[in-house]
Amino acid sequence: MEFVVGYDLNEFKRYYKKLATDLEWKKTFGYSPELGDLWEHILSRNPSQLIIFKEKNEIIGHAIWHPTNTKEHRKRDPREKEDTEILEKLLGGKKDFIELHEIWLRTEHRGKGYGKRFFKFFEEFIRNKGYDSIIYYADYPAVVAICRERGYREACGLKYIEPQGNTRTFHVFYFSTRIQHRWEDYYSTLKRLPRRFKKPAQFVVEAVPIFKHSNVKKILDLGCGVGRHCVQLANTSFEVVGSDISKSALKMARNWLKEEGLMDVALVQAAMTHLPFRNCCFDGIISVSVIHHAVKKDIETTIKEIHRTINKNGLFLANLASVKDPRYGTGIEIEIDTFRILEAFEDNRFEELHHFFTKSEVLKLFANFAETGVQLLKDKPNYWRVTAKK
Ligand SMILES: C[S@@+](CC[C@H](N)C(=O)[O-])C[C@H]1O[C@@H](n2cnc3c(N)ncnc32)[C@H](O)[C@@H]1O
Repeated sequence: MEFVVGYDLNEFKRYYKKLATDLEWKKTFGYSPELGDLWEHILSRNPSQLIIFKEKNEIIGHAIWHPTNTKEHRKRDPREKEDTEILEKLLGGKKDFIELHEIWLRTEHRGKGYGKRFFKFFEEFIRNKGYDSIIYYADYPAVVAICRERGYREACGLKYIEPQGNTRTFHVFYFSTRIQHRWEDYYSTLKRLPRRFKKPAQFVVEAVPIFKHSNVKKILDLGCGVGRHCVQLANTSFEVVGSDISKSALKMARNWLKEEGLMDVALVQAAMTHLPFRNCCFDGIISVSVIHHAVKKDIETTIKEIHRTINKNGLFLANLASVKDPRYGTGIEIEIDTFRILEAFEDNRFEELHHFFTKSEVLKLFANFAETGVQLLKDKPNYWRVTAKK
């Protein structure tokens, strides 16, 4: 299967009509079976706004996108107030973005990973065109899952009343082609466990007696990666749950835990901003070199999630990059104290997002906790060691 940017419009219109006559399109979307004059006009002037999924010379799916902004779909076509409010919140002040208007894959071609491939292709395509923000309104479960897996920022609940009167509720997804570091892409190319992820961090080793003394039994390793701390903590007889946004990292963690005979460790794929756990279900949460890889808004959400999921008197332990880190100020500044930095790890060079914290900022972020301790790490003084008790 290949993606073709721009296509013969007459051929595309024939395929579009077929979607409706084969019922799959009409039944699901309730859209018009015709492309419509407006889109025909737009696509004939801007052919690259149409992307075709092509297999064996046949169109098996398509996507249409267009540049837009938070106030108007296009000139003189204003957005609803609620829509604008959601977009302004998600985009954090940016106004212009690319809307992925429509994406469709014919039913018999689903379940082959083409949807995931499309999103990867599309993010790169949009980035290469020089745009930095993608918005997609999704209500189809498989696509919602892909957006979540790829770490899209999400707002829920935009209601749309179809011409036929049915109400559909959309998740609004936002992806920044510039700031998003796709951990999955990094882990999925690794051939073996990187050396730097083989041994637990010293400050976690040192925290074990503190956890034991505080009667911590169940620990979440938030952003567990390939699982070095899951292995260490499970071997020290804690009940351990690991979560990470990357499926490939979790696969490596699962293999490592299996080799160690540690089959009781639960591994969960989740974004740190949306933890799929009950309130107050962990006695301890650790997070090593994870939370600073985000923009400030997501960091705040994550800390709320930690506060929600940890027990009263539960202990949180993490390292957070400090403004004293020599990388501070390098790369491209995304917002105050947050930079997109090109790093080289293993055989990869990739952009990592880093937020660098001042001590007072950390204390402010953890103000809801009963006690917070912030010191520079002894062995790595470019990081804060943060402890917090709920
Ligand atoms: C530098 S690695 C550290 C991995 C692990 N904690 C360790 O110390 O070996 C950062 C990890 O954070 C995960 N991560 C990054 N952003 C995340 C997010 N928004 N939600 C959950 N995990 C995330 C990455 O997939 C990656 O595994």
